[in-house]
Amino acid sequence: MEKRILYGGDYNPEQWLDAPDILEKDIQYMKEAGINTVTLGIFSWSALEPQEGEYQLQWMEEQINRLYENGISVIMSTPSGARPKWMADKYPEVLRVNPDRQRILFGGRHNHCYTSPVYREKVRKINTLLAEKFASHPAVILWHISNEYGGECHCPLCQKAFQDWLAERYGDIEKLNKSWWTAFWSHTYRSFEEIESPSPRGESELHGLTLDWKRFVTERTADFLEEEIKALRAGGAKQPTTINLMYDFPFLDYDRLSKSVDIVSWDSYPVWHKREDIETALDNGMQHDYMRCLKKKPFLLMESCPSATNWHKISKLKRPGVLAAAGIQAVAHGSESVLYFQIRQSRGSSEKFHGAVIDHSGRDDTRVFKEASALGQGLAGLGEIVGSQVKSEVAMVYDTQNRWAMEGAMGPRNEDLHYHEAAMKTYKALRKKGLNVDVISETSSLEEYRLVVAPMLYMFHDGFEEKIRGFVEKGGCFVLTYWSGIVDEEDRCFLGGTPYGVMDVFGMRRTETDSLYTGEVNELCPAAGSFLSKTYECRNLCDLITVEEGKALMSYGKEFYQGTPAVVENKYGEGLAYYVGADAEQGFYDDFYAHLMKQLNITSLVAGIVPEGVEVSARSGDGADYVFVQNFRNAATDIRCMKLEGQILYGRNMEELLPYESLVVKAGK
Ligand code: GAL
Ligand code: ZN
Repeated sequence: MEKRILYGGDYNPEQWLDAPDILEKDIQYMKEAGINTVTLGIFSWSALEPQEGEYQLQWMEEQINRLYENGISVIMSTPSGARPKWMADKYPEVLRVNPDRQRILFGGRHNHCYTSPVYREKVRKINTLLAEKFASHPAVILWHISNEYGGECHCPLCQKAFQDWLAERYGDIEKLNKSWWTAFWSHTYRSFEEIESPSPRGESELHGLTLDWKRFVTERTADFLEEEIKALRAGGAKQPTTINLMYDFPFLDYDRLSKSVDIVSWDSYPVWHKREDIETALDNGMQHDYMRCLKKKPFLLMESCPSATNWHKISKLKRPGVLAAAGIQAVAHGSESVLYFQIRQSRGSSEKFHGAVIDHSGRDDTRVFKEASALGQGLAGLGEIVGSQVKSEVAMVYDTQNRWAMEGAMGPRNEDLHYHEAAMKTYKALRKKGLNVDVISETSSLEEYRLVVAPMLYMFHDGFEEKIRGFVEKGGCFVLTYWSGIVDEEDRCFLGGTPYGVMDVFGMRRTETDSLYTGEVNELCPAAGSFLSKTYECRNLCDLITVEEGKALMSYGKEFYQGTPAVVENKYGEGLAYYVGADAEQGFYDDFYAHLMKQLNITSLVAGIVPEGVEVSARSGDGADYVFVQNFRNAATDIRCMKLEGQILYGRNMEELLPYESLVVKAGK
């Protein structure tokens, strides 16, 4: 099949079955806009099974046939994201119980119990049926499992499953008591049957319990997901599977969940025009990179908004050009689709004002429709990019389980640890220099990288210290920051000094950590002979450090620890290790990584300089590299300083980009 970037989005014909003229028009408009793919069936359960066991798949079949006849592919969803009313009424166990142990009422979506045998059976049946009916249809290219998995259930069935999971994990209760440190406050358990999930009405301060509960919620979700897939396979489905993930989602460990599907996809809804657009773009870019690295291969942009996102606090219109910029940005970071929520705007209920390709006017001459069509045309010229990879010599560790542990820990700053911001500072510094950046978890291999940065890696997964050591020993450069290597996988503090197991690698020891009040500032001052020569501000957290083998590059400018080391460099094995002891301002990271790039001879994706407000990325194909240059400024930008060369696949010229304009250049290898 000819390579093409999937273009289209969520489509909900079940809302319009009594309006055949509208359904007819939709197809015509889709073709006009260059739409080649739609996602069907996400919330269709009550249309597919209006009464228990009474299935109506005819309408769906007609839709799929018609789409296919018009050259449009289908991503077929399982409907488990929202169940019909009859099911909730007849089998209350399908509804979730909240942490207060209260069963919630029918309503909303995504509120089903992942353990309920009834719910699992109902999902199994309908999934198998959908597969039997549609898996062999040539239009169907991918299975989209449920929608944005999330949330947790505290019902008795889930409690039992949690106890069983713990019994399996720990083997005996003594081991659990030791791991969770339950002797503290007399919280010792005598058997697994005594354990309950965390609750604001009960146990909420046993960090080992909270952490394991979060792990269990991910495992339960993964188990449910795997059963959904099994049911599809039983019905004959052979296509790959995907789940749509969410922005910086803290409730599931995507690193684990993504293992259960073939392709990662995600839903991107940035808040544009509230701060500098390049800031929003970089923040969104980091998420793209995170999603790509879950499987270290191309992903899909499953949802994005063509205009205003109505669940934002203020639903601002995207300025002209931003629709295309956001779509191209996804492709630049490794997506093989640009898909929207939604194709046709719904008429009632809570998303009636959510942006769509076709709005309530039902016209194809709206600003949004015209922009969507132009992008459809542009993407049609980028088909050859499909299958190419985003390659990077640089990685940043951004780990969900670390975040759970750190944010739940009652430590130095309970108000806000600023983990996301800390990661963003590193990410931005590297991206502004024109580097692709992988965003990985602690479970990823480090082998392919030359520079790895781990901001605030509070929790070391079992053996992570050895991974760092091996990496540096063999010649890698590792940057670790403040508040790292403090606890083990069960959130128990390491004894004998931190960062645990790698003090000799970094040539230093953390002795204490000072927390600064919000707004309070300390300084990082260059030490004699340091490659850094400026003074920078730092905030929030300052590690107090004793230098052993290493060399201090910066020291604190204020407080009782004025003059003591804050940034340390150490040569270890064949490599280099840096410890950055405080939450420094952006300028520090910009200068620090500029030096490291030179030192390590890591070069930018472009020969020249990346101008302010411009994002650059690259994908490598078999015979060519594809360089993406995007202007996220609301002003024309001269890009001659980038010294681009090659053939233009998308865009106008290599001299200047208009506001939000993008350029894709194909360069020979
Ligand atoms: C997503 C969801 C979609 C739609 C969209 C609106 O989170 O998956 O079904 O609700 O938000 O932005
Ligand atoms: Zn439950």
